[in-house]
Amino acid sequence: SHTNVSVDERLIKVCELLKENIDYYNWVGFYFRNGNREELKLRAFAGEPTDHTIIPFGKGICGQVAVSNQNFVVPDVKAQDNYIACSIYVKAEIVIPLFKNGENIGQIDIDSHTPDPFTKADEKFLEFVNDAVSKIL
Ligand code: SME
Repeated sequence: SHTNVSVDERLIKVCELLKENIDYYNWVGFYFRNGNREELKLRAFAGEPTDHTIIPFGKGICGQVAVSNQNFVVPDVKAQDNYIACSIYVKAEIVIPLFKNGENIGQIDIDSHTPDPFTKADEKFLEFVNDAVSKIL
């Protein structure tokens, strides 16, 4: 629908804004639950295209957040066993769940080429971004 196109464009703008203004945000994307399936689907992103547009619940950092409902900060991706690599340049990752009416419906996922760059301030900021985004969905 036209409504969904507009939301997708806004989501892409949010990704681009974050990627272009925060130097250690090198890939920014929004994954959402894919209908009633136990999987995530990539809906909007800024940065290099990824092969991982569908991620089963439980798989990788993103899939773990889909079931835990908790922020997941990864200072060193090499130290994770349940991790899906998208780029050889990625050193760290942060995934923050996105709630609508109290339900975990998706997440923002950010990859960094900088080792251990994410702080509590990033978590609080990205929770705020997700709250704002939930209102346009
Ligand atoms: N690294 C993620 C997969 C998505 S890419 O970072 C874009 C994961 O382990 O779930």
